[in-house]
Amino acid sequence: MTKVPEDLRQFISLLQKRGEVRVVKGADWDLEIGAINEMMAERRGPALLFDQIKGYPPGFRIATNILHRADFQKIAFGIPEELSNLEVVRYWKERWSQFSPVPPKVVDKGPIMENVMEGEGVDVLQFPAPKWHEGDGGRYIGTGVITITRDPEEGWVNFGTYRVMIHDSKTLSFYASPGKHATIMREKYWARGQECPVVMCFGQQPLLFGVSTMALPWGISEYDMAGYLQGEPVEVIIGKETGLPIPAKAEIAIEGFSPPPSVQGRPEGPFGEWTGYYASGRRDEPVVRIKRIYFRDDPIIHGQPPVKPPVNTWFPIPLHTAVPLWMELEKLGIPDIQGVYVHGPGNRVVVVISLRQRYLGHAKQVAALAGAILQGGACTGRYIITVDEDIDPSDWEEVLWAVCTRCDPEHYIDIVPGFLTSPLDPMIPPEKRSRRDFTTAKVLINACRPYHWKDQFPPVNRASEELRERVKAKFPELFQ
Ligand SMILES: Cc1cc2nc3c(=O)[nH]c(=O)nc-3n(C[C@H](O)[C@H](O)[C@H](O)COP(=O)(O)O)c2cc1C
Repeated sequence: MTKVPEDLRQFISLLQKRGEVRVVKGADWDLEIGAINEMMAERRGPALLFDQIKGYPPGFRIATNILHRADFQKIAFGIPEELSNLEVVRYWKERWSQFSPVPPKVVDKGPIMENVMEGEGVDVLQFPAPKWHEGDGGRYIGTGVITITRDPEEGWVNFGTYRVMIHDSKTLSFYASPGKHATIMREKYWARGQECPVVMCFGQQPLLFGVSTMALPWGISEYDMAGYLQGEPVEVIIGKETGLPIPAKAEIAIEGFSPPPSVQGRPEGPFGEWTGYYASGRRDEPVVRIKRIYFRDDPIIHGQPPVKPPVNTWFPIPLHTAVPLWMELEKLGIPDIQGVYVHGPGNRVVVVISLRQRYLGHAKQVAALAGAILQGGACTGRYIITVDEDIDPSDWEEVLWAVCTRCDPEHYIDIVPGFLTSPLDPMIPPEKRSRRDFTTAKVLINACRPYHWKDQFPPVNRASEELRERVKAKFPELFQ
């Protein structure tokens, strides 16, 4: 693995050296930044660095579109640039499978301590948080955010990316879906009648952001994983209010406490979501009362707002979904999985697994397990497609070919109800939503050649490698 950028600003300067950063001066936090970000993402353009934002001092910046292209993603995560998308998934999976924890290293000082607001001086409105989409219910400072919590029973530290809205100078709310690790942890504090200590960073090393968005198994700290992946511990300072570890090179970090929703909740949303809708509307969500803010000189907020599919502003290569799934299937001892890839909105919804069928029911077994494993988040893993080993699961056109020609819809599509989706799912009808029933059916599509007669299945009409080589040798000028 090549060295990963050690913080957000080093990553941005690496992109700058490649001519891939456009500085935008004078944009308004109120919708203009969001619209520019969206239109540039639609063109798959460069990263954007907003400065001199209307009403804010120069130097208080926002970086967007920094991870929406595969080349940017590879630089951020230290992945060799020559690898194909499927090879990247395999490479990352192989690294993960060697995981041994590298815990963070506590340091006394770090750039995050350059400026501190505390007590009455706390004012999160000093930062140029955008209203990203026209239908948003407020200003979202947390889109490229990591939210850090500690499990009160087991003591380990989690971080995850959950959107963060500003309510006033000292109050934020964070939306974490049912089943997410922070959701489970905060509920444990509340069950004991305690407030949940929370740290949120609004700009940090891209590797930390990357692991924050990946579903690690319960009990594995993202800090330990990031340390392992970069080959050295993540440096942290210890928050004075919460005792939580805070990345020493983050851009902006808040420390605060989240009281039980019965004590305080605030209306959160709507928010333009990654599914392409404002589906979860406006409802009360838990708040965080800010006690202290740390920030670097000339801080950079990482803006990672969703835009309507098929445009994707995060992770074109689905490391966040395909890798954990592939690892889990392997851990269960399922043989002969050749590749796992995830397509569709957010690279979360349409799972494709290619396998060499070894026994009757192999493909069905894999699909059923994948449907059960891949959960959390709206529509995640709603469609599970299994294909034979000759299909590249990252090549959507090939996958479609297999679905269209190897799947008998009468016998090889199963619809299984009752899996967890989330309030962001646009297909939850109003009545079901009011019962807080956030479940969905999953569709298992077996697009492998039917096992019983796979050896009699019509042969594929593609020129053989041997014939291709022969004509290439004879007509070399045609294929240069
Ligand atoms: C850009 C981005 C934004 C996200 N926003 C949210 C969110 O607002 N709420 C949520 O529950 N999950 C959100 N997710 C998904 C979680 O970050 C992801 O499921 C992660 O694994 C959660 O961490 P956990 O497994 O430690 O709970 C987002 C993912 C990305 C890539």
